[in-house]
Amino acid sequence: MDLAGILLAVVVALVFFFQALTWTRRAKNKRLPPGPKGLPIIGNLLMIGNNPHHDFQRLAQKYGPIMHLRFGLMPVIVVSSPEAAELFLKTHDLVFASRPPHDCSRLISYNQQNLAFSPYGSYWRNMRKMCTLELLSNHKINSFRSMRMEELHGLVRYIREAAAATDVVDLSSMVLSFTTENTCRMIIGKKYDHGDFSEKGFKATIQEGTQIAATFNLADYIPQIRALDLQGLTKRMKIIAKDLDDFLENIIDEHVQSKDGNRVKDFVDVMLGLMGSEETNEYRVERDTIKAIILDMLVGSMDTSAAAIDWTLTELIRHPQVMKKVQKELENVIGMKRMVEESDLEKLEYLDMVVKESFRLHPVLPLLVPHAAREDCIVDGFHIPKNSRIFVNTWAIGRDKRFWANAERFYPKRFIGSDIDLRGHNF
Ligand code: HEM
Repeated sequence: MDLAGILLAVVVALVFFFQALTWTRRAKNKRLPPGPKGLPIIGNLLMIGNNPHHDFQRLAQKYGPIMHLRFGLMPVIVVSSPEAAELFLKTHDLVFASRPPHDCSRLISYNQQNLAFSPYGSYWRNMRKMCTLELLSNHKINSFRSMRMEELHGLVRYIREAAAATDVVDLSSMVLSFTTENTCRMIIGKKYDHGDFSEKGFKATIQEGTQIAATFNLADYIPQIRALDLQGLTKRMKIIAKDLDDFLENIIDEHVQSKDGNRVKDFVDVMLGLMGSEETNEYRVERDTIKAIILDMLVGSMDTSAAAIDWTLTELIRHPQVMKKVQKELENVIGMKRMVEESDLEKLEYLDMVVKESFRLHPVLPLLVPHAAREDCIVDGFHIPKNSRIFVNTWAIGRDKRFWANAERFYPKRFIGSDIDLRGHNF
Protein backbone atom coordinates (compact mmCIF):
# COMPACT_ATOMS: atom_id res chain seq x y z
CA MET A 1 0.00 0.00 0.00
CA ASP A 2 1.43 3.42 -0.90
CA LEU A 3 1.46 6.42 1.43
CA ALA A 4 -1.78 7.83 0.00
CA GLY A 5 -3.50 4.49 0.61
CA ILE A 6 -2.31 4.33 4.21
CA LEU A 7 -3.41 7.91 4.82
CA LEU A 8 -6.84 7.16 3.37
CA ALA A 9 -7.17 4.04 5.55
CA VAL A 10 -6.24 6.06 8.67
CA VAL A 11 -8.71 8.84 7.84
CA VAL A 12 -11.49 6.32 7.19
CA ALA A 13 -10.74 4.51 10.50
CA LEU A 14 -10.81 7.82 12.43
CA VAL A 15 -14.07 8.89 10.83
CA PHE A 16 -15.60 5.52 11.75
CA PHE A 17 -14.39 5.82 15.29
CA PHE A 18 -15.78 9.32 15.89
CA GLN A 19 -19.02 8.61 14.07
CA ALA A 20 -19.60 5.46 16.12
CA LEU A 21 -18.74 7.34 19.32
CA THR A 22 -21.17 10.19 18.57
CA TRP A 23 -23.85 7.75 17.60
CA THR A 24 -23.41 5.59 20.72
CA ARG A 25 -23.45 8.69 22.96
CA ARG A 26 -26.59 10.02 21.34
CA ALA A 27 -28.35 6.67 21.55
CA LYS A 28 -27.40 6.19 25.21
CA ASN A 29 -30.21 6.97 27.61
CA LYS A 30 -32.67 6.60 24.74
CA ARG A 31 -34.75 3.50 24.41
CA LEU A 32 -34.00 2.11 20.96
CA PRO A 33 -36.15 -0.77 19.69
CA PRO A 34 -34.72 -4.19 20.52
CA GLY A 35 -32.39 -5.84 18.04
CA PRO A 36 -29.34 -8.06 17.68
CA LYS A 37 -25.92 -6.76 18.71
CA GLY A 38 -23.73 -5.81 15.78
CA LEU A 39 -20.01 -5.89 15.08
CA PRO A 40 -17.91 -2.71 15.14
CA ILE A 41 -18.06 -0.75 11.88
CA ILE A 42 -20.14 -3.21 9.81
CA GLY A 43 -22.89 -3.62 12.42
CA ASN A 44 -25.38 -6.38 11.55
CA LEU A 45 -24.52 -6.64 7.87
CA LEU A 46 -23.26 -10.22 8.09
CA MET A 47 -26.64 -11.38 9.41
CA ILE A 48 -28.36 -10.50 6.16
CA GLY A 49 -28.13 -12.67 3.03
CA ASN A 50 -29.61 -12.67 -0.45
CA ASN A 51 -33.19 -12.63 0.80
CA PRO A 52 -33.19 -9.88 3.42
CA HIS A 53 -36.98 -10.14 3.92
CA HIS A 54 -36.53 -13.77 5.07
CA ASP A 55 -33.68 -12.83 7.45
CA PHE A 56 -35.62 -9.86 8.82
CA GLN A 57 -38.65 -12.07 9.44
CA ARG A 58 -36.52 -14.61 11.33
CA LEU A 59 -34.91 -11.88 13.47
CA ALA A 60 -38.25 -10.15 14.10
CA GLN A 61 -39.61 -13.38 15.58
CA LYS A 62 -37.01 -12.94 18.30
CA TYR A 63 -36.84 -9.14 18.66
CA GLY A 64 -40.36 -8.00 17.78
CA PRO A 65 -42.24 -6.04 15.13
CA ILE A 66 -40.19 -2.86 15.57
CA MET A 67 -36.58 -3.92 15.46
CA HIS A 68 -33.35 -1.97 15.48
CA LEU A 69 -30.22 -2.98 13.56
CA ARG A 70 -27.19 -1.16 12.27
CA PHE A 71 -25.85 -1.44 8.71
CA GLY A 72 -22.42 0.16 8.59
CA LEU A 73 -22.93 3.54 10.22
CA MET A 74 -26.64 3.76 9.58
CA PRO A 75 -29.40 2.86 12.04
CA VAL A 76 -31.93 0.56 10.40
CA ILE A 77 -35.46 -0.04 11.66
CA VAL A 78 -37.37 -3.08 10.44
CA VAL A 79 -41.15 -2.99 10.71
CA SER A 80 -42.83 -6.40 10.64
CA SER A 81 -46.46 -6.15 11.77
CA PRO A 82 -49.51 -4.35 10.37
CA GLU A 83 -49.91 -2.32 13.58
CA ALA A 84 -46.30 -1.14 13.41
CA ALA A 85 -46.57 -0.43 9.66
CA GLU A 86 -49.57 1.80 10.37
CA LEU A 87 -47.58 3.74 12.97
CA PHE A 88 -44.73 4.43 10.55
CA LEU A 89 -46.69 4.94 7.34
CA LYS A 90 -49.85 6.64 8.67
CA THR A 91 -49.61 7.95 12.24
CA HIS A 92 -46.11 9.41 11.72
CA ASP A 93 -46.22 9.56 7.92
CA LEU A 94 -44.68 13.03 7.67
CA VAL A 95 -41.63 11.99 9.66
CA PHE A 96 -41.04 8.90 7.51
CA ALA A 97 -42.20 10.17 4.10
CA SER A 98 -38.66 10.84 2.92
CA ARG A 99 -36.21 8.49 1.22
CA PRO A 100 -32.61 7.97 2.27
CA PRO A 101 -29.69 9.17 0.15
CA HIS A 102 -29.18 6.57 -2.57
CA ASP A 103 -26.06 6.53 -4.70
CA CYS A 104 -27.70 4.82 -7.66
CA SER A 105 -30.52 7.38 -7.87
CA ARG A 106 -28.01 10.18 -7.38
CA LEU A 107 -25.94 9.04 -10.35
CA ILE A 108 -28.64 7.66 -12.65
CA SER A 109 -31.73 9.67 -11.70
CA TYR A 110 -30.38 13.20 -11.88
CA ASN A 111 -29.40 13.68 -8.27
CA GLN A 112 -32.47 11.90 -6.88
CA GLN A 113 -34.91 14.09 -8.81
CA ASN A 114 -37.06 11.01 -9.40
CA LEU A 115 -40.25 10.21 -7.59
CA ALA A 116 -39.10 7.07 -5.81
CA PHE A 117 -36.02 8.58 -4.14
CA SER A 118 -36.49 12.35 -3.94
CA PRO A 119 -36.19 13.54 -0.35
CA TYR A 120 -39.29 15.02 1.32
CA GLY A 121 -39.81 18.72 0.55
CA SER A 122 -41.48 21.04 -1.95
CA TYR A 123 -40.05 19.16 -4.99
CA TRP A 124 -41.32 15.86 -3.51
CA ARG A 125 -44.79 17.37 -3.05
CA ASN A 126 -44.89 18.97 -6.51
CA MET A 127 -43.83 15.83 -8.32
CA ARG A 128 -46.39 13.66 -6.53
CA LYS A 129 -49.09 16.17 -7.33
CA MET A 130 -48.03 16.35 -10.97
CA CYS A 131 -47.89 12.56 -11.34
CA THR A 132 -51.26 12.06 -9.61
CA LEU A 133 -53.13 14.81 -11.43
CA GLU A 134 -51.49 14.90 -14.84
CA LEU A 135 -49.99 11.47 -15.56
CA LEU A 136 -51.79 8.84 -13.52
CA SER A 137 -55.32 10.31 -13.52
CA ASN A 138 -58.18 7.96 -14.52
CA HIS A 139 -58.72 10.08 -17.61
CA LYS A 140 -55.10 9.73 -18.75
CA ILE A 141 -54.86 6.01 -17.98
CA ASN A 142 -58.17 5.37 -19.77
CA SER A 143 -56.91 7.22 -22.85
CA PHE A 144 -54.47 4.33 -23.41
CA ARG A 145 -57.10 1.62 -23.01
CA SER A 146 -57.40 0.63 -26.68
CA MET A 147 -53.63 0.57 -26.99
CA ARG A 148 -53.38 -1.85 -24.04
CA MET A 149 -56.03 -4.08 -25.62
CA GLU A 150 -54.12 -4.08 -28.91
CA GLU A 151 -50.96 -5.27 -27.11
CA LEU A 152 -52.93 -7.89 -25.18
CA HIS A 153 -54.53 -9.24 -28.37
CA GLY A 154 -51.01 -9.52 -29.86
CA LEU A 155 -49.81 -11.54 -26.86
CA VAL A 156 -52.82 -13.87 -26.84
CA ARG A 157 -52.59 -14.39 -30.62
CA TYR A 158 -48.91 -15.28 -30.31
CA ILE A 159 -49.54 -17.82 -27.54
CA ARG A 160 -52.51 -19.31 -29.39
CA GLU A 161 -50.44 -19.78 -32.56
CA ALA A 162 -47.56 -21.26 -30.60
CA ALA A 163 -49.98 -23.67 -28.90
CA ALA A 164 -51.46 -24.70 -32.27
CA ALA A 165 -47.96 -25.39 -33.56
CA THR A 166 -47.01 -27.09 -30.23
CA ASP A 167 -44.08 -24.66 -29.91
CA VAL A 168 -42.54 -24.05 -26.50
CA VAL A 169 -43.14 -20.52 -25.19
CA ASP A 170 -41.07 -18.78 -22.51
CA LEU A 171 -44.06 -17.19 -20.80
CA SER A 172 -42.03 -15.04 -18.39
CA SER A 173 -40.13 -13.49 -21.23
CA MET A 174 -43.37 -12.94 -23.23
CA VAL A 175 -45.00 -11.27 -20.22
CA LEU A 176 -41.99 -9.01 -19.70
CA SER A 177 -42.06 -7.99 -23.37
CA PHE A 178 -45.78 -7.31 -23.03
CA THR A 179 -45.41 -5.08 -19.94
CA THR A 180 -42.39 -3.35 -21.49
CA GLU A 181 -44.20 -2.57 -24.71
CA ASN A 182 -47.32 -1.37 -22.94
CA THR A 183 -45.27 0.79 -20.62
CA CYS A 184 -43.16 2.28 -23.40
CA ARG A 185 -46.17 3.18 -25.49
CA MET A 186 -47.89 4.95 -22.57
CA ILE A 187 -44.83 6.73 -21.26
CA ILE A 188 -42.69 7.52 -24.29
CA GLY A 189 -45.10 6.88 -27.15
CA LYS A 190 -43.40 4.00 -28.95
CA LYS A 191 -41.88 0.57 -28.52
CA TYR A 192 -38.17 0.10 -28.42
CA ASP A 193 -36.57 -2.82 -30.19
CA HIS A 194 -33.15 -4.23 -29.66
CA GLY A 195 -31.44 -2.19 -32.37
CA ASP A 196 -32.98 1.13 -31.31
CA PHE A 197 -30.90 1.48 -28.23
CA SER A 198 -27.40 0.83 -26.97
CA GLU A 199 -25.54 -2.37 -27.85
CA LYS A 200 -27.21 -4.18 -24.95
CA GLY A 201 -30.72 -3.24 -26.00
CA PHE A 202 -33.42 -1.27 -24.27
CA LYS A 203 -34.93 -3.94 -22.00
CA ALA A 204 -31.52 -5.20 -20.86
CA THR A 205 -30.32 -1.68 -19.98
CA ILE A 206 -33.44 -0.80 -18.00
CA GLN A 207 -33.26 -4.16 -16.26
CA GLU A 208 -29.61 -3.61 -15.43
CA GLY A 209 -30.55 -0.20 -14.01
CA THR A 210 -33.33 -1.82 -11.94
CA GLN A 211 -31.03 -4.56 -10.74
CA ILE A 212 -28.23 -2.18 -9.79
CA ALA A 213 -30.71 0.08 -7.97
CA ALA A 214 -31.79 -2.91 -5.89
CA THR A 215 -28.25 -4.17 -5.23
CA PHE A 216 -27.00 -3.68 -1.70
CA ASN A 217 -24.46 -0.86 -1.95
CA LEU A 218 -22.08 -0.60 0.98
CA ALA A 219 -21.42 3.05 0.17
CA ASP A 220 -25.07 3.88 1.02
CA TYR A 221 -24.38 2.72 4.58
CA ILE A 222 -20.75 3.82 4.96
CA PRO A 223 -20.58 6.96 2.79
CA GLN A 224 -16.97 7.57 3.84
CA ILE A 225 -15.80 4.68 1.63
CA ARG A 226 -17.76 5.79 -1.44
CA ALA A 227 -14.62 6.94 -3.25
CA LEU A 228 -13.09 3.45 -3.00
CA ASP A 229 -15.94 1.90 -5.06
CA LEU A 230 -15.22 -1.47 -3.44
CA GLN A 231 -18.04 -3.28 -5.27
CA GLY A 232 -17.36 -1.62 -8.62
CA LEU A 233 -20.96 -0.34 -8.61
CA THR A 234 -20.18 3.34 -9.16
CA LYS A 235 -18.31 2.53 -12.33
CA ARG A 236 -21.23 0.45 -13.63
CA MET A 237 -23.76 3.10 -12.60
CA LYS A 238 -21.88 5.79 -14.51
CA ILE A 239 -21.89 3.69 -17.71
CA ILE A 240 -25.62 2.97 -17.42
CA ALA A 241 -26.33 6.61 -16.55
CA LYS A 242 -24.60 7.75 -19.75
CA ASP A 243 -26.48 5.20 -21.94
CA LEU A 244 -29.80 6.13 -20.38
CA ASP A 245 -29.20 9.85 -20.60
CA ASP A 246 -28.42 9.62 -24.35
CA PHE A 247 -31.59 7.61 -24.81
CA LEU A 248 -33.77 10.01 -22.78
CA GLU A 249 -32.32 13.04 -24.57
CA ASN A 250 -33.29 11.45 -27.91
CA ILE A 251 -36.79 10.77 -26.71
CA ILE A 252 -37.32 14.35 -25.63
CA ASP A 253 -35.88 15.70 -28.89
CA GLU A 254 -38.15 13.41 -30.93
CA HIS A 255 -41.18 14.60 -28.98
CA VAL A 256 -40.25 18.26 -29.34
CA GLN A 257 -39.81 17.84 -33.12
CA SER A 258 -42.94 15.67 -33.64
CA LYS A 259 -45.56 17.24 -35.89
CA ASP A 260 -48.25 14.59 -35.33
CA GLY A 261 -50.88 16.51 -33.39
CA ASN A 262 -53.47 13.71 -33.55
CA ARG A 263 -51.79 10.98 -31.55
CA VAL A 264 -52.76 10.28 -27.91
CA LYS A 265 -50.47 12.35 -25.70
CA ASP A 266 -47.98 10.16 -23.85
CA PHE A 267 -46.34 11.07 -20.51
CA VAL A 268 -43.46 12.90 -22.19
CA ASP A 269 -45.88 15.08 -24.18
CA VAL A 270 -47.78 15.92 -20.99
CA MET A 271 -44.63 16.90 -19.10
CA LEU A 272 -43.27 18.91 -22.03
CA GLY A 273 -46.60 20.75 -22.02
CA LEU A 274 -46.00 21.72 -18.40
CA MET A 275 -42.60 23.26 -19.13
CA GLY A 276 -42.63 27.01 -19.49
CA SER A 277 -46.39 27.33 -18.95
CA GLU A 278 -48.14 28.84 -15.97
CA GLU A 279 -48.34 25.49 -14.29
CA THR A 280 -44.59 25.28 -14.55
CA ASN A 281 -44.38 27.60 -11.59
CA GLU A 282 -46.50 25.17 -9.69
CA TYR A 283 -44.74 21.98 -10.80
CA ARG A 284 -41.32 23.35 -11.80
CA VAL A 285 -40.77 20.88 -14.65
CA GLU A 286 -37.33 21.02 -16.21
CA ARG A 287 -35.58 18.78 -18.72
CA ASP A 288 -33.87 16.75 -15.98
CA THR A 289 -37.19 16.39 -14.17
CA ILE A 290 -38.76 14.88 -17.27
CA LYS A 291 -35.86 12.47 -17.72
CA ALA A 292 -35.91 11.42 -14.06
CA ILE A 293 -39.69 10.85 -14.05
CA ILE A 294 -39.67 8.90 -17.35
CA LEU A 295 -36.96 6.66 -15.94
CA ASP A 296 -38.85 6.16 -12.70
CA MET A 297 -42.02 5.18 -14.50
CA LEU A 298 -40.14 2.76 -16.79
CA VAL A 299 -38.18 1.17 -13.95
CA GLY A 300 -41.22 1.26 -11.64
CA SER A 301 -43.57 -0.49 -14.00
CA MET A 302 -41.81 -2.96 -16.31
CA ASP A 303 -40.48 -5.54 -13.87
CA THR A 304 -43.08 -5.04 -11.14
CA SER A 305 -46.03 -5.70 -13.44
CA ALA A 306 -44.25 -8.63 -15.13
CA ALA A 307 -43.27 -10.20 -11.78
CA ALA A 308 -46.83 -9.81 -10.43
CA ILE A 309 -48.27 -11.55 -13.52
CA ASP A 310 -45.55 -14.23 -13.37
CA TRP A 311 -46.31 -15.09 -9.76
CA THR A 312 -50.07 -15.18 -10.33
CA LEU A 313 -49.68 -17.50 -13.33
CA THR A 314 -47.24 -19.66 -11.35
CA GLU A 315 -49.74 -20.08 -8.52
CA LEU A 316 -52.52 -20.90 -11.00
CA ILE A 317 -50.35 -23.59 -12.60
CA ARG A 318 -49.44 -24.98 -9.17
CA HIS A 319 -53.11 -25.04 -8.13
CA PRO A 320 -55.18 -26.57 -10.95
CA GLN A 321 -58.37 -26.35 -8.88
CA VAL A 322 -57.98 -22.60 -8.57
CA MET A 323 -57.20 -22.36 -12.29
CA LYS A 324 -60.42 -24.25 -13.07
CA LYS A 325 -62.44 -21.86 -10.92
CA VAL A 326 -60.95 -18.84 -12.69
CA GLN A 327 -61.79 -20.40 -16.07
CA LYS A 328 -65.33 -21.20 -14.91
CA GLU A 329 -65.84 -17.63 -13.76
CA LEU A 330 -64.61 -16.30 -17.11
CA GLU A 331 -66.97 -18.63 -18.96
CA ASN A 332 -69.92 -17.60 -16.80
CA VAL A 333 -69.33 -13.86 -16.68
CA ILE A 334 -67.77 -13.14 -20.09
CA GLY A 335 -68.65 -16.20 -22.16
CA MET A 336 -66.51 -17.82 -24.84
CA LYS A 337 -67.14 -15.39 -27.68
CA ARG A 338 -65.04 -12.38 -26.78
CA MET A 339 -61.96 -11.40 -24.84
CA VAL A 340 -62.05 -9.90 -21.36
CA GLU A 341 -62.17 -6.09 -21.35
CA GLU A 342 -60.75 -3.90 -18.57
CA SER A 343 -64.32 -2.83 -17.78
CA ASP A 344 -65.18 -6.49 -16.98
CA LEU A 345 -62.64 -6.70 -14.17
CA GLU A 346 -64.91 -5.49 -11.38
CA LYS A 347 -67.34 -8.32 -12.18
CA LEU A 348 -64.64 -10.99 -11.87
CA GLU A 349 -64.72 -11.46 -8.11
CA TYR A 350 -62.82 -14.73 -7.92
CA LEU A 351 -60.05 -13.45 -10.20
CA ASP A 352 -59.78 -10.42 -7.91
CA MET A 353 -59.24 -12.72 -4.92
CA VAL A 354 -56.62 -14.69 -6.84
CA VAL A 355 -54.66 -11.51 -7.55
CA LYS A 356 -54.90 -10.40 -3.91
CA GLU A 357 -53.71 -13.79 -2.68
CA SER A 358 -50.80 -13.66 -5.09
CA PHE A 359 -49.85 -10.16 -3.86
CA ARG A 360 -50.13 -11.32 -0.24
CA LEU A 361 -47.69 -14.19 -0.68
CA HIS A 362 -45.43 -12.65 -3.30
CA PRO A 363 -45.26 -8.88 -2.84
CA VAL A 364 -43.16 -7.58 -5.69
CA LEU A 365 -41.27 -5.17 -3.45
CA PRO A 366 -41.16 -7.22 -0.23
CA LEU A 367 -39.53 -4.40 1.76
CA LEU A 368 -41.17 -1.52 -0.16
CA VAL A 369 -38.75 1.24 -1.14
CA PRO A 370 -36.78 2.23 2.01
CA HIS A 371 -38.18 5.20 3.91
CA ALA A 372 -36.00 7.54 6.00
CA ALA A 373 -36.62 9.32 9.33
CA ARG A 374 -36.46 13.08 8.75
CA GLU A 375 -36.09 13.74 12.47
CA ASP A 376 -35.85 11.90 15.81
CA CYS A 377 -39.23 10.40 16.64
CA ILE A 378 -40.83 8.28 19.35
CA VAL A 379 -42.83 5.38 17.94
CA ASP A 380 -44.61 2.97 20.27
CA GLY A 381 -42.35 4.19 23.09
CA PHE A 382 -39.13 3.55 21.11
CA HIS A 383 -36.62 6.19 20.07
CA ILE A 384 -36.20 6.20 16.28
CA PRO A 385 -33.07 8.22 15.45
CA LYS A 386 -33.04 10.80 12.66
CA ASN A 387 -31.75 9.39 9.34
CA SER A 388 -32.73 5.82 10.22
CA ARG A 389 -33.55 3.69 7.20
CA ILE A 390 -36.99 2.13 7.57
CA PHE A 391 -37.76 -1.21 5.94
CA VAL A 392 -41.39 -2.33 6.06
CA ASN A 393 -41.42 -6.11 5.64
CA THR A 394 -44.65 -6.61 3.69
CA TRP A 395 -43.54 -10.16 2.90
CA ALA A 396 -43.60 -10.97 6.65
CA ILE A 397 -46.81 -9.01 7.24
CA GLY A 398 -48.57 -11.08 4.55
CA ARG A 399 -47.57 -14.18 6.51
CA ASP A 400 -48.50 -12.91 10.00
CA LYS A 401 -50.21 -15.93 11.61
CA ARG A 402 -52.40 -13.68 13.77
CA PHE A 403 -54.24 -12.50 10.67
CA TRP A 404 -53.83 -15.25 8.10
CA ALA A 405 -54.87 -18.85 8.90
CA ASN A 406 -52.55 -21.34 7.14
CA ALA A 407 -50.56 -18.32 6.06
CA GLU A 408 -48.29 -20.21 3.61
CA ARG A 409 -51.23 -21.71 1.73
CA PHE A 410 -52.39 -20.17 -1.54
CA TYR A 411 -56.09 -19.91 -0.83
CA PRO A 412 -57.89 -17.06 -2.64
CA LYS A 413 -61.22 -17.75 -0.93
CA ARG A 414 -59.83 -16.33 2.30
CA PHE A 415 -60.80 -12.92 0.83
CA ILE A 416 -64.52 -13.75 0.62
CA GLY A 417 -66.42 -11.03 2.48
CA SER A 418 -63.22 -9.10 3.18
CA ASP A 419 -63.01 -5.39 2.32
CA ILE A 420 -59.22 -5.40 1.96
CA ASP A 421 -58.20 -3.60 -1.22
CA LEU A 422 -54.89 -3.05 -2.99
CA ARG A 423 -54.73 0.71 -2.67
CA GLY A 424 -52.42 0.81 0.31
CA HIS A 425 -54.90 1.63 3.09
CA ASN A 426 -55.06 -1.87 4.55
CA PHE A 427 -51.97 -2.39 6.62
C1 HEM B 1 -48.07 -4.79 -10.08
C2 HEM B 1 -47.47 -3.65 -10.30
C3 HEM B 1 -46.81 -2.80 -9.25
C4 HEM B 1 -46.50 -3.06 -7.95
C5 HEM B 1 -46.73 -4.35 -7.17
C6 HEM B 1 -45.88 -1.87 -7.40
C7 HEM B 1 -45.46 -1.74 -6.10
C8 HEM B 1 -44.87 -0.62 -5.56
C9 HEM B 1 -44.45 -0.46 -4.18
C10 HEM B 1 -44.62 -1.52 -3.10
C11 HEM B 1 -43.88 0.76 -4.05
C12 HEM B 1 -43.22 1.34 -2.78
C13 HEM B 1 -44.13 2.18 -1.94
C14 HEM B 1 -43.43 2.69 -0.68
O1 HEM B 1 -42.24 2.53 -0.49
O2 HEM B 1 -44.11 3.29 0.17
C15 HEM B 1 -43.95 1.40 -5.35
C16 HEM B 1 -43.49 2.66 -5.61
C17 HEM B 1 -43.51 3.23 -6.87
N1 HEM B 1 -44.05 2.68 -8.02
FE1 HEM B 1 -45.00 0.92 -8.18
N2 HEM B 1 -45.83 -0.92 -8.37
C18 HEM B 1 -46.39 -1.43 -9.52
C19 HEM B 1 -46.56 -0.80 -10.73
C20 HEM B 1 -46.09 0.45 -11.01
C21 HEM B 1 -46.31 1.15 -12.26
C22 HEM B 1 -47.12 0.60 -13.45
C23 HEM B 1 -45.66 2.34 -12.16
C24 HEM B 1 -45.55 3.47 -13.16
C25 HEM B 1 -46.49 3.85 -13.98
C26 HEM B 1 -45.05 2.39 -10.84
C27 HEM B 1 -44.30 3.45 -10.36
C28 HEM B 1 -43.88 3.58 -9.05
C29 HEM B 1 -43.19 4.75 -8.54
C30 HEM B 1 -42.83 5.99 -9.35
C31 HEM B 1 -42.95 4.53 -7.16
C32 HEM B 1 -42.32 5.49 -6.16
C33 HEM B 1 -43.48 6.23 -5.54
C34 HEM B 1 -43.15 7.02 -4.30
O3 HEM B 1 -42.01 7.11 -3.86
O4 HEM B 1 -44.12 7.59 -3.73
N3 HEM B 1 -45.34 1.25 -10.17
N4 HEM B 1 -44.56 0.55 -6.25
